[in-house]
Amino acid sequence: MKIAIAGKGGVGKTTVTAVLAYLFAKDHEVLAIDCDPSMNLAFTLGVKDFKPLSELKDVIQERVGRGLVYKLNPKVDDIVEKYAVENEDGIKLLVLGTINRGGEGCFCPESAFFRAVLRHAILKSELLLLDMDAGIEHLGRGTAKGVDLMLAIVEPNLKSVETAKKIKELAKDIGIERVYYVVNKYVPVDIFDFEVLAKIPFDRRIIEADIRGIPPYKICNLKPFEELKEKLLRT
Ligand SMILES: Nc1ncnc2c1ncn2[C@@H]1O[C@H](COP(=O)(O)OP(=O)(O)OP(=O)(O)O)[C@@H](O)[C@H]1O
Ligand SMILES: [Mg+2]
Repeated sequence: MKIAIAGKGGVGKTTVTAVLAYLFAKDHEVLAIDCDPSMNLAFTLGVKDFKPLSELKDVIQERVGRGLVYKLNPKVDDIVEKYAVENEDGIKLLVLGTINRGGEGCFCPESAFFRAVLRHAILKSELLLLDMDAGIEHLGRGTAKGVDLMLAIVEPNLKSVETAKKIKELAKDIGIERVYYVVNKYVPVDIFDFEVLAKIPFDRRIIEADIRGIPPYKICNLKPFEELKEKLLRT
C-alpha cells in the first residue's frame, strides 16, 4: 500500500506519517519519504543522522546529467537501499530535501531525480508513506502520482478544510481517485460536513513528545491511529 499524507501547514501530516509508519512497521516493511523541503520527519522519527538526497550533487549530476539535456529516466534503483536510514523502530526513512527552484521550475536535475526516485519507490515498496509538503502546490507537480490513496488531513478550522477539499479535487487530476479526509486534533465542532475516515483527538502527549524531541508514538494515545490503520487496510 502506498499512501500520501497531505494537508494545510501544521495540520499534523508529519505526526500522522510517523505514527502510521510505526504501526505499519509491526507487520510490514515500511519506507517513509519526507517530501517536504522543511524536512521535519527525521526529527519526528528520532533520526539525527541523515543526508537529504538534494545534497547528493555528484550523484544527481552523474545520473541525470547537466545542461540542457536531462535524462528523464535516470537510474535510481539503488537509491533507497543506499540512502534510506532505519530508525530504532525499524522504519526506513528517505529525505528528499530542498531544491532551489529559482527560475528553473520543475525542470531542474534535482526534480527529475526526485521524481524518478519517487516513481521507483511507489512501484517497489511494500508499504510506503509520503509526508507531503504543506498545501496544494505539490499536486501541480504530481509528486505523489501513482500512490494508491491520499489522506487529506484537516484540523478543526475552516482553512484546513478548504485546503483539504482542494487537495481532493486536484488529486483527481493526477489520477489519485481515493482521497480520504482525516480529522486530526479533533474537538467536536460543526464544520466537518463530509465523510471522514478517522478522527484523531487532540492529544497533549503529542505536543509533549515534540518538545522532548521523541517520536510521538512513544507516549501518545495510539488507539485512534490503530483504528485509522485498520480502516486503511480495509479500504
Ligand atoms: N493530535 C494532535 N494533538 C495535539 N497536537 C498535535 C496533534 N497532531 C499534531 N500535533 C502538533 O501539531 C503541530 C504540527 O504537527 P505536524 O508537524 O505533524 O504538522 P504538519 O502538517 O506536518 O506541519 P508542516 O506543514 O509544518 O509540515 C506539532 O507541534 C504537533 O506536535
Ligand atoms: Mg510536516
